Amino acid sequence: MSRSDYVKLEGVGVTYGLGPDQTEALCPTDLSLSEGDFVALVGPSGCGKSTILKLVSELLKPTQGNIFFGGRELGARPVRVGMAFQSASLLPWMSIRDNVMLPLKIVPPFKSDYRSKRGGEYRDRVDALLEQVGLLDFADKNPWQLSGGMMQRANLCRALVHDPDLLLLDEPFGALDQFTREELWQTMQDLWLARKPTVLLVTHDLREAAYLANRVCVMSPRPGRIIEDRAVTFERPRPIDATFEPAFVKLVQELRSQIVHTPTGKRSSAA
Ligand SMILES: Nc1ncnc2c1ncn2[C@@H]1O[C@H](COP(=O)(O)OP(=O)(O)OP(=O)(O)O)[C@@H](O)[C@H]1O
Ligand SMILES: [Mg+2]
Repeated sequence: MSRSDYVKLEGVGVTYGLGPDQTEALCPTDLSLSEGDFVALVGPSGCGKSTILKLVSELLKPTQGNIFFGGRELGARPVRVGMAFQSASLLPWMSIRDNVMLPLKIVPPFKSDYRSKRGGEYRDRVDALLEQVGLLDFADKNPWQLSGGMMQRANLCRALVHDPDLLLLDEPFGALDQFTREELWQTMQDLWLARKPTVLLVTHDLREAAYLANRVCVMSPRPGRIIEDRAVTFERPRPIDATFEPAFVKLVQELRSQIVHTPTGKRSSAA
């Protein structure tokens, strides 16, 4: 297995529904991720970005093509996935610590160790993560006692606490104001630098994509496929100010023009 075969989509297409109600969401498309990659998926609304996340998290089977994880067909062995979406969806009756602890209680192999591990070891693990994102003082609070940005920090911790093989992020910063969003980008960058998870990030924000990712994949309009796979080579850690420098602005403009100027692809019968 080469490094680029950690996750591999080969000629993967998705059509939702049947007969006259069917929607072709994804044209046969290819995508490969190396271990430790931070790949951003960008493209117009409805082009199939979330569909790709559903495929690699095994929530959806492709209509055609194959998906491989670690050189074997997806499903051949369990893949530990961490997810964070636009809505933090923390459980309101649980403290922040217990919310972040949740994957350790329910995801193998942590689940079986949970009782025997004396709770304390996992609590230390959760608290170390909360401290890293500046939330340790709020560990005993409930989600409704936190701001939106703080809830998203906790959400990222919950997605990472079980050391996922794959971290899937679908617009996790999309509902935040610009300043809070930029703070969260820095938090995400720090977490990635400390742990080097393999990340697939869906975002509409091209600055966010270029700031966080080492590759930005641009998709065509629906039925989507990847039309550009762009390396982002700016040195890390990347200061937020670097996003206003000419080379960064140029990259964002080039990505934007690809999305704006790509003609809509062929439509399915339901279009
Ligand atoms: N469960 C479903 N049943 C039928 N059609 C669906 C389903 N999920 C998505 N679609 C359709 O598939 C296409 C791709 O959807 P998807 O959610 O992947 O887009 P997206 O790129 O994530 O869009 P957005 O940026 O707006 O979130 C859309 O046209 C959508 O209407
Ligand atoms: Mg989506």
